[in-house]
Amino acid sequence: MPAYAVIGAQWGDEGKGKIIDFLAEKAAIIARYSGGNNAGHTVINDAGTFKLHLVPSGICWPHTMNVIGNGVVVDPEVLLKEIGENNLDPSRLAVSDRAHLIMPYHVVLDRLEEAKRGDAAIGTTGRGVGPAYVDKVARQGLRVGELLDPEELALRLPEIVAFKNEIITKIYGGNPVDIEDIIALTKKWATELAEYIRPVENLVADALDNGENVIVEGAQGALLDLDHGTYPYVTSSNPTVGGTLTGLGMGPRSYGGVAGVFKAYCTRVGAGPFPTEIHGAEGDRIREMAGEFGVTTGRARRIGWFDGVAAKYSARVNGFDGLIVTRLDTLDGWDEIKICVAYELDGKRTDQFPIDAARLERAKPIYESVPGWTESTRSITKPSQINDGAKAYLNKLEEVIGVPIKIVSTGPHRDETLVIEDLIG
Ligand code: IMO
Ligand code: MG
Repeated sequence: MPAYAVIGAQWGDEGKGKIIDFLAEKAAIIARYSGGNNAGHTVINDAGTFKLHLVPSGICWPHTMNVIGNGVVVDPEVLLKEIGENNLDPSRLAVSDRAHLIMPYHVVLDRLEEAKRGDAAIGTTGRGVGPAYVDKVARQGLRVGELLDPEELALRLPEIVAFKNEIITKIYGGNPVDIEDIIALTKKWATELAEYIRPVENLVADALDNGENVIVEGAQGALLDLDHGTYPYVTSSNPTVGGTLTGLGMGPRSYGGVAGVFKAYCTRVGAGPFPTEIHGAEGDRIREMAGEFGVTTGRARRIGWFDGVAAKYSARVNGFDGLIVTRLDTLDGWDEIKICVAYELDGKRTDQFPIDAARLERAKPIYESVPGWTESTRSITKPSQINDGAKAYLNKLEEVIGVPIKIVSTGPHRDETLVIEDLIG
């Protein structure tokens, strides 16, 4: 049986963690391919509430193997904390030897770079993700596998750290990081992580060869993609489907499906254009009602109406063949629900998503409205339970995006999930 990608289709925080926990029952492997602990995935089931940043959201099923692919950047301190909190042994979790390390100086640099950007700050999560990918691309990064030879690493680190400290102190006026502390950390990481460091691409390939299902877990979202997102207000990796192939080392023919996860409205954390943003009291009301605060940084999320132009673009760059709509229940009881179906850009109507941030900033949403519904959709699990108003809204989303909805999430708990059509065969 094949691989199934579950990809964030907006600006992140679409509810990927919940959906992956739900789907993982039928999978042998759940695999992360991009990003790092900038992600914040919440899983709620009968075993409790789990806030995950780095380990995949399949860990609650005892039969699953959870893997962190080469495309991910790994902060070993965060990984060890999550391993400890969730009692994960190497039979349940593996990390690629070729994933890059987020080092303490990356975290320092992320925060200093943001401070220097001032008004133009991206609003990063400050976890060192961007600077770690910069070192990867500059071919000066350190990889997880290098931890396995701590003596060799201890020889290389002084020069690397001295160079980073020059930048930290001379360019940004920050405080240098301590080389001895870093060497000690890498030795600790080497000991504690050694057994988890594995050739992840082989685990994935073997599972697929053996006819098992693999769920490929997205982090962030398509509109935060380094290439396809609202650059420069993006993350430093490729959350879109292309990133799954490089980030795990698998081929496109492995796929049985590529699903996009959409919230029933939009949110965005950090800076950058957001055409359907709802400002002021109405946005505040929705934020409070829906609890839209970040899992990673606790920041208030910006709120907006469903952006059909962005959604259609997202479906196209990912080739979605199925949609997953989350937080439908949050819309219960609203008088009227708006959907952006086109933009007005420089006096002309367009249904094309402008690629550059400056044009997107000028785009004004053109809305269509559907009447709200009074009946609750919370916790419903059968298509026959969807009221007519909610059905009309879902139909409108399908029509705008042009892809069928297969799963609807009607609450944060694993069981609050409605399957219209099985995603995994
Ligand atoms: P999940 O997996 C929402 C945003 C940050 C910032 C930009 C760059 O929970 O959907 P970075 O730290 O990546 O350099 O920040 O990307 N961002 C996210 N927003 N959900 C996420 O992950 C995010 N990961 C990064 O807010 O705007
Ligand atoms: Mg999140």
